[in-house]
Amino acid sequence: MPFDSLKPQVSTILSDKKQSILQRLEAVCSLLESSIAYYDWVGFYFADHDKQTLHLEAFSGAPTDHVTIPFGKGICGQVAISNEDFVVPNVQDQQNYISCGIDVKSEVVIPLFKEGINVGQIDIDSHVIDPFTEDDVVFLTWVNREVSEILTLDSNKKVVFE
Ligand code: SME
Repeated sequence: MPFDSLKPQVSTILSDKKQSILQRLEAVCSLLESSIAYYDWVGFYFADHDKQTLHLEAFSGAPTDHVTIPFGKGICGQVAISNEDFVVPNVQDQQNYISCGIDVKSEVVIPLFKEGINVGQIDIDSHVIDPFTEDDVVFLTWVNREVSEILTLDSNKKVVFE
């Protein structure tokens, strides 16, 4: 399993205080996208609870128009509300889905909690149908927990980036 060998690399990236939080998140996206064949786009969205929107702060893969997503819209917006993992084996089966390109066939979104609050999420798009297993969910949940450790929240429970 590549996940066990990736964990120390993720930890090393996240603990590098010489890099900004966003640089570290971008490096994690890049590591995951380049290391796992069926991860074709990897990004972190973070929540603005006042505005009820998600904001793309770091990603690796093709640029997307969907840098702001209202809570409730698409797979990401649903996870902002449900607080639950969302594995989509085939995006064609989803009514409430925001397409980032015709190549994308499947997606997984895992919420990221800080102080028990759903403050963001990691989003993976794949060009393969049904590639994600429980191992992906466990790994990505671990990644989010590690990321959570380096984040701080403002008084509105929004993640602060330097
Ligand atoms: N497909 C997502 C939108 C974000 S892109 O995957 C980058 C969704 O339905 O929320």
